[in-house]
Amino acid sequence: MYKHLCVCVLLLILGILVRTQSFGGPRHGKAVVCYVATWAAYRKGDGSFSVNQLNPQLCTHLVYSFAGLNQETNGIKILDSWLDIEKESGAYNQMVALKNRYPHLKVTIAIGGWNEGSEKYSAMASKKQTRDTFIQSVLAFLDKYKFDGLDLDWEYPAKRGGQPHDKANYVTLVKELKEAFQDKGYILTAALGAGKNTMDVAYDLAKLSRYLDLIHMMCYDYHGTWDGFVGANAPLRGGSDEDALSVEYTIKYMLSHGVSPYKMVLGLPMYGRTFILSDPDTRQIEFGRTKVQNVGFKGRYTGENGFMGYNEICLELNNKTSSWERLWHKPSSTPYLRNGDKIISYDNARSIAIKVKLAMDYNLGGLMVWSIDTDDFKGHCTRDTDAFLDFVERHETMVDDPVLNEALKTLKLRDAHDHSDTAYVISGGKLHLRLPEPMHSNYPLMETINQAANLALEENRIVEEMDRITKENAIDHEEERKPSSAHTISADLFYITLYLTLRQLSKILRI
Ligand SMILES: *[C@@H]1O[C@H](CO)[C@@H](O)[C@H](O)[C@H]1NC(C)=O
Repeated sequence: MYKHLCVCVLLLILGILVRTQSFGGPRHGKAVVCYVATWAAYRKGDGSFSVNQLNPQLCTHLVYSFAGLNQETNGIKILDSWLDIEKESGAYNQMVALKNRYPHLKVTIAIGGWNEGSEKYSAMASKKQTRDTFIQSVLAFLDKYKFDGLDLDWEYPAKRGGQPHDKANYVTLVKELKEAFQDKGYILTAALGAGKNTMDVAYDLAKLSRYLDLIHMMCYDYHGTWDGFVGANAPLRGGSDEDALSVEYTIKYMLSHGVSPYKMVLGLPMYGRTFILSDPDTRQIEFGRTKVQNVGFKGRYTGENGFMGYNEICLELNNKTSSWERLWHKPSSTPYLRNGDKIISYDNARSIAIKVKLAMDYNLGGLMVWSIDTDDFKGHCTRDTDAFLDFVERHETMVDDPVLNEALKTLKLRDAHDHSDTAYVISGGKLHLRLPEPMHSNYPLMETINQAANLALEENRIVEEMDRITKENAIDHEEERKPSSAHTISADLFYITLYLTLRQLSKILRI
């Protein structure tokens, strides 16, 4: 009798412990914004994604996509009331409730998206009165559903039926929203289009940067069947200096137009673009040249022409009886696949790691994904083994640098024997790159993002320290020379030559 009571009490305590145990988020300190396309709940079979399949340890922010705008009332509105608030207490509640166990997490709601169009938003933003109505409705909405803030996904001001004055009105709307959010501590973010034309006509970037907490750069959809050629969905770099359609171009453009780097969050696609060759006998695929039909093909779960989730792509690769040829487009750092007349250009762990490195090199505020529900969230696929190939290559160049040893002495890197987490480590007085071991079997791309951020930040610390030492050495050389007037010209020349050679050497050896 007592025994049973004891067991019951124990189970109760255990239950409470489990329920109240909390988990942390990413350790690198950068934002990892995870959009959730909540309609993924309706996808077929293993493609169906629900909020309880999220792993919030991989993200700092979750963005519930999407809410809409009521054209008559100018208020924010629920788009799918069964899914959002009715089914199993509603996905709004489910997502917000994750914060109980994951206190680091911020959960916001996105309004807009492609299907909402631009016209309604243009009209709402154009008058003080309708903006006020909208802002009041947003405040009530956030309060009612306990979201941490709003993400604006107006696609796009001054485009797709919008008006030229949208550019100014958008800033006014953002400014007024920000002011209304101040007392409540709500977050205000926006997803911005990354095409040059969109950035030109839609956004007053410097002003938006002042009022938005984070800017989610939609660095994807640069190329697709609409071009008429095979192309990369999200090329790291363009084909030439004039090519405005690349991730790096977008980053540089936004920075040069006054956006604060720490507010910029680089968007990464968890999907690819599909193409069907016009000429099935094409031997060599050339991005931007090889002609394709005006429609691509669909994925088995997402069912959208020209689009394929990473989870769908990796299943194709896993299928031993299908014959996809794996290729890599070096100029854009993009993996692509070919099977007869079918082409898929996409992002895998390797291309994602390279983009994360780029974001860290530009000192950006973090990374964003569209969207977490098309990562391999079920862990069905074999992992790519070459995710950190490019880090390894850079590391090999770095270990030969003569300044490195000095830098290692002043940097307090974690010792390889005591820490197993992702990091550069010293062992036996040498720098070692310790590649992360897969922690979970699912979410390979999300995991890569966090691991690559850790690696890139550590790598940058080492390179910065080496820079500092190189500069310090240069100053030392100058001071040594100054007091001694007895120096012969040839000695001076010797030092200068030595210094220049060393500088040259360290430049060549560094990346
Ligand atoms: C694997 O590929 C073959 C050949 O393309 C195809 O017939 C089969 O349905 C695929 N299997 C799965 C599970 O997708």
